[in-house]
Amino acid sequence: APTRPLDLVIFGGTGDLAMRKLLPALYHLHCDALLAPDARIVGVARDELDDAGYRALSSEHARRFLGRDFRSEDWESFSTRLVYAPVDALQADSFAALTRRLDERADGPRVFYLSTAPGLFSAICRNLDAAGLIGADSRVVLEKPLGHDLASSRRINDEVGRHFGEEQIYRIDHYLGKEPVQNLLALRFGNALIEPLWRREWVRDVQITVAEQVGVESRGDFYDRVGAMRDMVQNHLLQLLCIVAMEPPASINPDAVRDEKLKILRALRPFTPGDVAARSVRGQYRAGASAGQPVPGYVDEPGIARESATETFVALKAEIDTWRWAGVPFFLRTGKRMQEKVAEIVINFRAVPHSIFGVPASPLHANRMVIRMQPEETVDLHLLAKQPGDVMQLQPVRLNLDFAEAFRSRRLEAYERLLMDVMRGNLTLFVRRDEQEAAWRWVEPILAGWEQSGERPKPYTAGTWGPSASSALLSRDGLCWHEEI
Ligand code: BG6
Repeated sequence: APTRPLDLVIFGGTGDLAMRKLLPALYHLHCDALLAPDARIVGVARDELDDAGYRALSSEHARRFLGRDFRSEDWESFSTRLVYAPVDALQADSFAALTRRLDERADGPRVFYLSTAPGLFSAICRNLDAAGLIGADSRVVLEKPLGHDLASSRRINDEVGRHFGEEQIYRIDHYLGKEPVQNLLALRFGNALIEPLWRREWVRDVQITVAEQVGVESRGDFYDRVGAMRDMVQNHLLQLLCIVAMEPPASINPDAVRDEKLKILRALRPFTPGDVAARSVRGQYRAGASAGQPVPGYVDEPGIARESATETFVALKAEIDTWRWAGVPFFLRTGKRMQEKVAEIVINFRAVPHSIFGVPASPLHANRMVIRMQPEETVDLHLLAKQPGDVMQLQPVRLNLDFAEAFRSRRLEAYERLLMDVMRGNLTLFVRRDEQEAAWRWVEPILAGWEQSGERPKPYTAGTWGPSASSALLSRDGLCWHEEI
């Protein structure tokens, strides 16, 4: 069903995220008739533009980012929803331009999407409030990075919280909007077959990998202050870990789900200064090759300091101190300029307790479930079967669930799904304040340990799976990464 009539106000409306992700997502929703006929998108930025100027700018970018999905007629009809208000977030009186636009509509909620640097969140919320633009049914969407550490994230949450109640705040983690991540919920809690095995008695280890082939691209300046831990682990990887590890919630209601995720974050065994070196690896890429092309090393990318010690790769051994997961390592790994672009969750099951086939029961031949988010959306169950022929020899086979094949309907992109949820007022796939802060609490000692050690990140060649220390992290437990089997 389409959304209610509403105004979606995008601060940072001329910025990269708006052009690359938000407007294309809204365009798709428009084409699928999921937006109410008179829902509007109000672009807000400092640029002196009028509606026509904003539409022209958006269409120029849309052609590029939508590629073959850009259809002139559809874009024309979509772009009648686009209006623009020039506002300087730091100037209270400049909000009058926005008030005038919002006053054009009498009904429906207002959704404020803050796609700006977090340094502006506080001023925007304060000025929206002072202009009387925040109603009881208004919502605010916050983009990451939400802070640099626990203290700064608390500060942002406090400031936004002065003007919006927690139930009005939508903290985006776009990984939660990915279809396969939601499918993991469906698999776990919609099938009686899986859940009984989803525990320490049957699972030997879990591996969560988000590897990218790209380098830091044009974001060097931003990335160098952030690094892979803050950019990917504190949010995306920990959220994935929560979805894999949480107890079955009583319902799909926002707080039922978020309460369970929070319990996992709180049960993560903290890193102590003594075990940072043993349980974590940080790396930085050197010159190498990506997709057959030579690529420069991290410190030679534009915007990066030559002596930068920012990590572009992280591998961690996480442990969850609960009855369900005691003793099961969860390995997390993410990096730029890796061999492949792949996002996957691998559940390695234990080997059979006794092999009747004469070969020793080996963990290498145990069952495995591979949930792939990228590049394709699939779930593979690795089983053992008899090789055809006259001898009883076992061989791994894959039971493959290909979602593109099984469901031919168009699947919503993460931002489409999340924007729909914001507009419908469903918080289930958004991160609650306590979750976000618990995640910071867990990563901070790792960052501090790295800093105190004075060691540089371990180098790895662009286009590989990261530093060799990453393999060593698993081999200490007699294990190896999924692709090394
Ligand atoms: C973003 C990070 O949150 O996620 C980027 O800031 C990263 O550095 C991106 O490239 C990856 O998202 P996706 O959906 O392409 O896997």
